[in-house]
Amino acid sequence: MGEAMRFSARTNWNTEENALARAHRLRMEAGLPVADLTASNPTRCGFRYDAESLAALASPETLDYDPQPRGSLRGREAVCAYYAELGVKVAPEQIILTTSTSEAYSYLFRLLCDAGDEILVPQPGYPLFDFLAALDDVRLKNAPLVYDHGWQIDPEGIRRAITPRTRAMVLVHPNNPTGHFTKAWEKKELAALCREFDLALVVDEVFLDYRFAGSEAVTSFAAGLGGVPVFVVSGLSKIAGLPQMKAAWIAVTGTEKAAALDRLEVIGDTFLPMNAPVQCALPTWLAGRGAIQAQIRRRVARNLAELDRQFAGAPAVSRLKAEGGWYAVLRIPATERDERTVLELLERGVWVHPGYFFGMPESGWLVVSLLGEEQEFQQGVRRLVDYLAKSGVTRDAVIDQDPL
Ligand SMILES: Cc1ncc(COP(=O)(O)O)c(C=O)c1O
Repeated sequence: MGEAMRFSARTNWNTEENALARAHRLRMEAGLPVADLTASNPTRCGFRYDAESLAALASPETLDYDPQPRGSLRGREAVCAYYAELGVKVAPEQIILTTSTSEAYSYLFRLLCDAGDEILVPQPGYPLFDFLAALDDVRLKNAPLVYDHGWQIDPEGIRRAITPRTRAMVLVHPNNPTGHFTKAWEKKELAALCREFDLALVVDEVFLDYRFAGSEAVTSFAAGLGGVPVFVVSGLSKIAGLPQMKAAWIAVTGTEKAAALDRLEVIGDTFLPMNAPVQCALPTWLAGRGAIQAQIRRRVARNLAELDRQFAGAPAVSRLKAEGGWYAVLRIPATERDERTVLELLERGVWVHPGYFFGMPESGWLVVSLLGEEQEFQQGVRRLVDYLAKSGVTRDAVIDQDPL
């Protein structure tokens, strides 16, 4: 008889439940209260959705199968209308529809990289990159962000991370979870690096529309970056608060866009992932995004204000500066590993992300989502502040620590 079945090395994950997930599951199963400060699913945060926007799904035209490798023209035109409203001119020929930004990343990794090639990703950053890259045999290298009166890129750090195998750099604009936008001086530095090393830029703009009041106006990278190959990824999951609809896109700019689009078209043709009803409804959902965005912006602003109000009187925690997105990064005294802190907080009925989940050091960082229902959020923050106050550390201990 043969030996045990062999699996690919790329799927050699440790799939055992980790200590945090286990503790959370047990607490939920026991029916004990948990104020969830990680809630990031907009469909479960008490927002009002317009059920009438589902009517387009049932249009008779969805009975026709019209396989379009780049996605339906109407769907792509709707994406262009979105950019036009942001003041950016993009043609439908520059758009490829996908079922998620994750799928868009996968298309781009396959377009740009051979097995073993490298892509730079911001750190702290979105944890899914590790899995997306591994599945496409791409190696990730971290491009550390620095915090100095706000988050920013470190051009010299990026330069040091580039090797002959580097093909692209990912930017998240605004970044998750740090909430900072890429500034004009950073765009200039990035464009110069991309030109010098022949790199493409993959820019994730899923949170673009969630700028905090009072922060500087921003533009989409879909406007282009002086001919540098730029691939903007975005989609309905955040822009229209509809992650379940599985609709996203890539917008391609730069001098080599025609060749890139031809190849992306073949990738699209291979999978033809878009379904007819969703493409048919895409224009309606995008056009209706204002109503859900207004609710989300209001929720995020109120929760952020509540966080700051409670932290103003709290000795042991501070919030880092952010300009947009749905998250806040918290600095706490690094007196023990954050996994321990998160477990102890869970025992007190509040669930937060440890910073290391987003690539931060193991001690001294927590991340909270600002999307959850206000009462629950308020209660969760109160428990967090009480816990930190009781652990007997002072604000001086927080401020004395070096940033990242
Ligand atoms: C930076 C970033 N990109 C993409 C996504 C997910 O997008 P999608 O649902 O289109 O895969 C998320 C979700 O949290 C995100 O934080």
